[in-house]
Amino acid sequence: MTTPAIAANGLRKSYGDKVVLDGVDLAVPEGTVFSLLGPNGAGKTTAVKILSTLITADAGDLHVGGHDLAADPQAVRAAIGVTGQFSAVDGLITGEENMLLMADLHHLSRGEGRRTTAELLERFDLVEAAKRPASTYSGGMKRRLDIAMTLVGNPRIIFLDEPTTGLDPRSRHNMWGIIRELVTGGVTVFLTTQYLEEADELADRIAVLNDGKIAAEGTAEELKRLIPGGHVRLRFTDPSAYQSAAVALREAGRDDEALALQIPSGGSQRELRAILDWLDSAGIEADELTVHTPDLDDVFFALTGTGTVPNQTTQPKETVR
Ligand SMILES: Nc1ncnc2c1ncn2[C@@H]1O[C@H](COP(=O)(O)OP(=O)(O)OP(=O)(O)O)[C@@H](O)[C@H]1O
Ligand SMILES: [Mg+2]
Repeated sequence: MTTPAIAANGLRKSYGDKVVLDGVDLAVPEGTVFSLLGPNGAGKTTAVKILSTLITADAGDLHVGGHDLAADPQAVRAAIGVTGQFSAVDGLITGEENMLLMADLHHLSRGEGRRTTAELLERFDLVEAAKRPASTYSGGMKRRLDIAMTLVGNPRIIFLDEPTTGLDPRSRHNMWGIIRELVTGGVTVFLTTQYLEEADELADRIAVLNDGKIAAEGTAEELKRLIPGGHVRLRFTDPSAYQSAAVALREAGRDDEALALQIPSGGSQRELRAILDWLDSAGIEADELTVHTPDLDDVFFALTGTGTVPNQTTQPKETVR
């Protein structure tokens, strides 16, 4: 096994008597995307700040880019790029000047700084705005500039704390494309997000932080398998048709108000065909049939709430009939 790009063992951090990180273990292989999820205040930003050397941990064996965080924070700093949850953009100077400042901080030569700046401004669709003070940028433009600034030193490991918060759907998809390109080029990405869809799209592995600990970790598929909830929902408009179906399908969950029945199902074609055949032979004709598969929202609610999954949090994924 190669050394992970980011590794934490027994990471702890408290503020006063408030324990924020209570023994967190994680390992992120090189060239992969790791996403840390968790409710507000779970400690995601704290973890990012610690792993990117901005604040120190109380305890834990922490390595980033093969360097020990406690022993050699300088080496870690040279290997990483960080986009914080809150903007690092200086509003008084232009977008281009912000970029050139970053290039200076990374000790790029003048020429190289100019070339990198031009390239990144282009890539993040900021060429037109480049000569305007950043204070005149929209929230999404500032966010894009933030991330462009993170990439100036060509870091091999990047930390992105809610990189797409406040971006419109198009900019968010652009950002996803950029993140995927970076990963294809071997960059390791540590990402926090409030958009579970984003973790689902991008992350090779996802960890859910709750109560100071990792409540679950795995691929999106593995996490979804942790919780039940896949079902086929049959909705009726005629109360008597609903009643007779409910009698025939005794094991189905009932929603009398909505005139709907829920049959547990993984949603595979084979299972659906079996259900349809069975409904046909029982002479049941539902007005609407929808397939629900658990999504990361369900996982999130199940792992971080009081343990109850709110009903009907999932949107129908696929309408069969
Ligand atoms: N400098 C600080 N002093 C005291 N408490 C702090 C400090 N920084 C963070 N905290 C507390 O630590 C906890 C975790 O905060 P953190 O910002 O890491 O959460 P988060 O998961 O990033 O939340 P969000 O989703 O809202 O960004 C919170 O209870 C917060 O109030
Ligand atoms: Mg945060």
